[in-house]
Amino acid sequence: MEITIITQAFPYFCAVNEPVKLVILVSGKGSNARNLVSYFKKNQHVIVCGIVSSKQNPALESYCAENQLFYEECYPWNEARILPVLDKTGIDVVVLAGFLKKISSEFIASFPNRMINIHPSLLPKYGGAGMYGQRVHEAVFSNKESNTGITIHLVNEHYDEGEILVQHACAVDPNDTPTTIESKVHQLEHRFFPKAVEQYCLSLKR
Ligand code: GAR
Repeated sequence: MEITIITQAFPYFCAVNEPVKLVILVSGKGSNARNLVSYFKKNQHVIVCGIVSSKQNPALESYCAENQLFYEECYPWNEARILPVLDKTGIDVVVLAGFLKKISSEFIASFPNRMINIHPSLLPKYGGAGMYGQRVHEAVFSNKESNTGITIHLVNEHYDEGEILVQHACAVDPNDTPTTIESKVHQLEHRFFPKAVEQYCLSLKR
């Protein structure tokens, strides 16, 4: 699949010499979050400041401590507790990496065109409320799709409907199972998500 990065005009620009500061929100294991952290470790233009988890995740907490990142656990999820933390840290861009909680309009309004999500299918297929993680791969398998993939998109008020930045596809073979489909999709995510985040962040620096 062709890579299409869509750059749009919007009023927020990061100062040219200041790095873009990211926070990553997760609800799952956090393999994408860790991959983003290692990708940006020595990057001068984009820095990951911390990870927020909507679930208890002691392994991720230790990982953050080892990597000098802030870690906030918010379980049960409570946006009102997290927004001031992001404000205080001066976060520019929010990255949703397997984050499964509904994001309010207020939260989105605090980061207009500065919230990026990854979804494990080729949207608009297999998106919307209730479509996440393993459920997506099971549906792709049941429907005997010949391909699937990932979508990296901006976040708006509607689940999985924000502007698409880029999509990448992979084949689904006759002998694939939901588990092997998930593994193929994770490989695409780990390969392409950091670069897409980086390119988008660099487009904010003017
Ligand atoms: C990823 O596959 C991501 O695309 C998906 O959750 C997984 C998290 O994996 N996100 C969604 O389904 C959002 N609708 P990870 O915790 O190993 O990064």
